[in-house]
Amino acid sequence: MTAADVIREAAGADAPAPRLALVLGSGLGGLAEAVQDATAIPYKDLPGFPVGSVAGHAGRLVLGTLEGTPVVVLQGRAHLYEGIPASDLAVPVRTVRALGAETLVLTNAAGSINPAAGPGAIMALTDHINMMGANPLAGPNDDRIGPRFVGLGDIYDTDLRGALHRCAQAEGVVLHEGVYLAVLGPSFETPAEIRAFRTLGADAVGMSTVPEAIVARHCGLRVAAVSAITNLAEGLGAEPLSHEHTLKNAAIAAQDLQRVLSRFVKEYN
Ligand code: HPA
Repeated sequence: MTAADVIREAAGADAPAPRLALVLGSGLGGLAEAVQDATAIPYKDLPGFPVGSVAGHAGRLVLGTLEGTPVVVLQGRAHLYEGIPASDLAVPVRTVRALGAETLVLTNAAGSINPAAGPGAIMALTDHINMMGANPLAGPNDDRIGPRFVGLGDIYDTDLRGALHRCAQAEGVVLHEGVYLAVLGPSFETPAEIRAFRTLGADAVGMSTVPEAIVARHCGLRVAAVSAITNLAEGLGAEPLSHEHTLKNAAIAAQDLQRVLSRFVKEYN
C-alpha cells in the first residue's frame, strides 16, 4: 500500500479529496488543531514518509476541512540535516498530490537577513537560492510524475502570493516579501556566510522548504511559501541563536501567520 492508500482508507470513502496542502514548520503547527472532521495519522504509519525528530515538529498528517476547504495538513517535517536522503523528502509532497491537492503552501521558521523584517515578522517567498548541496530530484526520474528537467522560473506562484497579500492586508498584518536561501544546517551560519548571502540577494535563511518546493513543481503543484522570522541572522542581531529561541519567536509570528493562512484557505477557490 502507498501512503495515499493508507490515508484514503483511514479517512473513508466519504471524505472529500483535499484541494490544498499545507506544510507547517517549526513551532507553526497550531493551524492543524483547527482542522474539522480530522483524520490524523502519524508519519511513522505512512509508508515511505521520512520521520523527523526535532522538537516543535509533531510529525503527523491531518486530513479534513479547514474554513470550509478540504485540506491535507503536514504538521511538522523531516529535514536533510537529520541525515534523511533528499529523495525521501519527495514522498509527502507526492502523496498530497496523489490525494488530489493542486496547491501546496509551505511554511518555515527562518532567520532574517533584512533588518526591516525582524523577529516575529512574516515573509512571503518570491524565489529561493538552494545552497543545501542537494536536490530531491537527483537520481532516476519517473516520467509519469514529472519531467527529467523541470523549470523553476516561476517556482513561487505569483497569483497565490497576491492572494496572500490580500489576506494579510484584510487581517491588518504586514507581509514582507523576499528571497529565501536554504542551507543544509544543522549549525547556524557564520557572520561571514550571512554577509555573503546578503551579497547574493537573500532576504532570509533557513534549513527547509526548498526540497519540497522543487518536488512540488516537478509533480505539477502550485506553490506558495511563507517564512516566520524567528531571529535576525547571525551577525545582524545581539541575541545568540538557538532552537529554543527559534521556537519562542515562531510562536509570535505564528499568530499573524495563522490569521493570514486561515483567510487564505477560506477564500481559496
Ligand atoms: N538560520 C538558519 N535557519 C534558521 C534560522 C537561522 O538564522 N532561524 C530559524 N531557522
